[in-house]
Amino acid sequence: MKNELVVVEPQIRPGVALLRLNRPKELNALNWQLMAELRDALKVLDQDDSVKTMVLTGNDRAFAAGADIHQMADKSAMDLLLIDQFSTWEQIRRLKKPLIAAVSGFVLGGGNELVMHCDLVIASETARFGQPELLLGIMPGAGGTQRLTRQIGKVRAMEMVLTGQAISAKDALAWGLVNRVVPVECYLDEALRLASDIAQRAPLDLRLAKESVLKSQDSSLSEGLAFERKNFYLLFASN
Ligand code: CAA
Repeated sequence: MKNELVVVEPQIRPGVALLRLNRPKELNALNWQLMAELRDALKVLDQDDSVKTMVLTGNDRAFAAGADIHQMADKSAMDLLLIDQFSTWEQIRRLKKPLIAAVSGFVLGGGNELVMHCDLVIASETARFGQPELLLGIMPGAGGTQRLTRQIGKVRAMEMVLTGQAISAKDALAWGLVNRVVPVECYLDEALRLASDIAQRAPLDLRLAKESVLKSQDSSLSEGLAFERKNFYLLFASN
C-alpha cells in the first residue's frame, strides 16, 4: 500500500503496521489530502486482522509542523465549515487498535493535536511540542485546547496555548504528553518495540481496554466505571 503523502508498511514487524507522513519539504504540514490519505490508510489497517498495532511517524526533522497554513490562508469561515476537515480527525479518534506515535523534531499545532489522537507516544530528545496558533492570529481547532488541558492540566495548557511557545521533549515527558524520550537514533525502534510487545496481547482485550481508557476522557467516574465493568464481563464471553 503506497500513497503519495502517507507511506504505509503494513507488516514492518509481525502484527505491526508503520505509517510515515511524507511531505518532508513542507515539514509534514497536514494538508487535507494528507489527512484524508492518513484516515483511509488507518481505516484499512484497523480492519485488517493481521495488524494488531499501528505506529505513526514522520521524519527526524519534523513529525508535523501543523495544519497547512497556506491551504487555510484564503479560506472563509464558511469554506472551512463546508470542508469539515475535523470529521477526518474524528474518524482517526475512533480507531479500535492501538496507535503509537514515534515523533522527532517539530510537533506543532495540528501535529501536536495528531499526537494526542494517538494512544502512546515515543519522542526523540530533539522533539519540540507546541501549539503556536495564537502566533498566527488563530487558535487550535483539533483538540489543542480540550485534549491538551485534560492531558497536562489547565495552567500548563494555558501557557502552551497563550504563549505559543514550544516545550522540550524533557518537559513533555514531565508534563505527561509522552511516554518516553530516547535519543533520536532510537525513537522509531523504541516505538516499534513497544508496538510489537503490545501486539502479543489478545486483540479483543486490546480493543476493549483501549475503548475503556478513552472513555475516561469524556465521562464521569461512575459512567466510566460502569463502561469498564461491561467490557470486563464481555471478555468472559470470548476465548
Ligand atoms: N503549513 C504549511 N507549510 C509549512 C508549515 C505549515 N504549518 N510549516 C512549515 N511549512 C513549510 C514552509 O512554508 C517552508 O516551505 P517553503 O520552503 O516552500 O517556503 C518549509 O515548510 C520549511 O519551513 P521553514 O523554511 O519555515 O523552516 P524553518 O526551519 O525555518 O522553521 C518552523 C520551521 C519553525 C516549524 C516554521 O516553518 C513554522 O513556524 N511553521 C509554522 C508552524 C505553525 O504555525 N503551525 C500551526 C499551524 S495552524 C494549526 O495547526 C491549526 C490547527 O489546530 C489544526
